Formats: sequence, C-alpha cells, structure tokens
Amino acid sequence: MSQLANQIAVVTGAGRGIGRAIALKFATEGADVVCISRTEENSEKVAAEIRGLGRNAWAVAVDIADSVAVASAAQKILSDVGRIDILVNNAGVTRDGLLMRMSDEDWDIVLNTNLRGAFAMTKAFSRFFLKQRSGRIINIASVIGLIGNAGQANYAASKAGLIGFTKSVAREFGSRGVTVNAIAPGFIETDMTASLKAELKVELLKQIPLNSFGQVDDIAHAALFLASSGARYITGQILTVDGGMVM
Ligand code: NAI
Repeated sequence: MSQLANQIAVVTGAGRGIGRAIALKFATEGADVVCISRTEENSEKVAAEIRGLGRNAWAVAVDIADSVAVASAAQKILSDVGRIDILVNNAGVTRDGLLMRMSDEDWDIVLNTNLRGAFAMTKAFSRFFLKQRSGRIINIASVIGLIGNAGQANYAASKAGLIGFTKSVAREFGSRGVTVNAIAPGFIETDMTASLKAELKVELLKQIPLNSFGQVDDIAHAALFLASSGARYITGQILTVDGGMVM
C-alpha cells in the first residue's frame, strides 16, 4: 500500500539534492507533487521525472525569500491544484565565513532564504491548512542549528531559528490537526557539501559514529515517515538524521 496515496505535497528547493529526493520519494509513495525552485527549468526537470512515475507534478519558479512572490505563488498553486496536504520547507543556502569578515549581505541572504523563506511559505498556506483541519509541515533544519559551527554563524542562526519556528507553529496549529516537525540532517552528500575540502571531510568523518556521510535518500525516508499516517501523533519534534554525530 502506498503511504501517501492521493496526497498532494509542495516541496521547495525541489530541483536538486535533498529536495529532489524528497519529491521523488513522495511520488513513489503515491503523492502528487508541486516542485518549487528558483528557476522553472530546475523544477520542471524533477516534475517530468515525477510524471514518469505516473503521478501528477507541477513546476513552479519562485524565490522563497520574496514573500510577495510566495503569497501569489501559493494562491496560484491552490487554485491550480485544489488543495495541499504536505509542505516541505527544504530550500536553503550557505554563505560561509568567519564572523569578523561576514558581510551584511551574506547574513541577509542566508537568513532571508532559510528562515524567512520557510516563514513566508508556511504563512502563505496556513489559512488553507487551518481551514482544512489537517496537514503536515516538515522543515529541513540542520544539526548546525543545534550545535553551531565556526564559519557558519549566519547558517547556524537561520537553522536554530527554524527549529524555534517549528516548535512555535506546532503549538499554534496543533489544535487544527496540522503537525509541524523538522529534520536536522548531518553531513549529506549533495552539491551543497561537494565543495568542502578533502581534509575537512576526513575530520568530519571522525565525528560520525556510523562512519559515513549521509545520502539524500536518508533524509527522504525521514520526511516520508513524518508525512505518513504513522507520524500522526508527532509534532514540534526535531528528527536528527546524522549517523549519530549529535546525541
Ligand atoms: P542544494 O544546494 O543541493 O539544493 C538547495 C535547493 O534550494 C536548490 O534547488 C536551490 O535552487 C533551492 N533554493 C535555494 N535558494 C532558493 C530560493 N531563494 N528560492 C527557491 N529555491 C531556492 O542543497 P541540499 O544539500 O539539497 O540542501 C537542502 C536543504 O537541506 C537546505 O535547507 C540545507 O540547508 C539542508 N541541509 C543540508 C545538508 C547537507 O549536508 N547537504 C545538511 C543539513 C541541512
């Protein structure tokens, strides 16, 4: 039995990496998926893969840091698609650097995408979710939001903020049957982490009890669980998927 039969999901940053893996996993479990990316080209590629799996898919280009654009995209999605059951706030960016050299711009890009983007998306669909009296919101945070990281003050602040946001919205939406949870991935092999230096990767591996980096599918499985009926009594939680790095 498909775990998400007849569900409709919206996934941000679905063009590649973790977002793409989540979108495809949901589709293989019977969901139709709205794929959001900054460019239509990227979201359309994944949408086409999903259609190849026999599900419906829509490609939407929107910059989630632009709350006006997000609000109108959400309206259009609801009128084109009819309803949504699952929202995955996955899109995120890094602009690493030591604090003393971090520009306001690098701070703002990361906070506006990772934190304000999730706020804008959640707010844009909130009226619909509350009226529907059901829904799943899954935010992709990071272990860096739990433990911090030298050179990532902006990113850590955005992900720690996303964790506080998750818990607060879980408290607001719980009585309407809408759950809000976060996943905190550890080191997952994607474009975002491909540029890290080999020596740093060796150091990182020493901190991971399971002794390997994660794959995008590891996060997709966790997202599937949080979206599934089996997770109906779970809200406000942060599910760490990191090979045991943070305990
Ligand atoms: P990625 O860089 O491969 O993909 C990110 C996606 O988000 C891209 O498709 C990008 O176009 C999209 N995106 C970025 N800014 C956007 C905006 N303003 N509007 C719309 N879309 C936008 O990254 P990856 O590795 O797949 O990461 C996905 C999420 O997982 C991010 O939130 C990241 O912070 C988080 N994460 C990743 C980890 C890793 O090791 N790869 C570890 C912990 C968390």
